[in-house]
Amino acid sequence: MVRTDFDPQALPAREFYRLLTAVVVPRPIAWVSSTSGAGVDNLAPHSFFTVSCVTPPVVQFTSVGRKDSLRNIEDTGEFVVNLAPEPLFEQINASATNFPPGVDEFAELGLAKEPSARVRPPRVAQSPVALECSLHSTLLLGDSTVVFGTVLHAAVDERVLIDGHPSIDRLRPLARLGGDEWSTIGEVRELARIRYSG
Ligand SMILES: Cc1cc2nc3c(=O)[nH]c(=O)nc-3n(C[C@H](O)[C@H](O)[C@H](O)COP(=O)(O)O)c2cc1C
Repeated sequence: MVRTDFDPQALPAREFYRLLTAVVVPRPIAWVSSTSGAGVDNLAPHSFFTVSCVTPPVVQFTSVGRKDSLRNIEDTGEFVVNLAPEPLFEQINASATNFPPGVDEFAELGLAKEPSARVRPPRVAQSPVALECSLHSTLLLGDSTVVFGTVLHAAVDERVLIDGHPSIDRLRPLARLGGDEWSTIGEVRELARIRYSG
């Protein structure tokens, strides 16, 4: 194998970011709803997203720079991670438009809101999963801020459940790849974990 080397010290930050986001793939998308201190709802996709702790349940996403979602969450201490489902592809992308802070993306994009059970920011009514979070902490890393949220409540559309458990075929989550590329779930394989038996 002949490899090409990429040195983050030698490349412009933007170039290395393009490389990183092309190779750390696929990334799940947190469709984050939040509410400003003034009461304006906000919705934006974040693909730097994962589970960060099991007990207590904590999820994290990263705001690259300071954006409305981050400001709202710092101000109010609450947000909702909505699953980004394939049928809402266009709306998810449109919600990443850099609207000014006073714009409610739900209203702008014609997306219905649904009240949350435990937090003030609304859920996306058409998203099959909502994780209602209270701000756990933030971590400033260079130009980015990692936002950790304790999951207070999970609300799942019963139509995506099989025997009480979410089915990947029914959730149809979108994922982010490099550049403007997105992906859907491809072939799903199952393989049992192998336990060391001595
Ligand atoms: C699929 C997708 C994933 C994105 N992931 C991130 C991310 O992880 N972090 C980030 O800061 N911006 C991300 N963005 C860009 C934000 O969604 C965009 O800057 C948006 O305007 C932020 O909205 P806000 O200012 O209302 O918070 C992503 C955009 C798209 C389309």
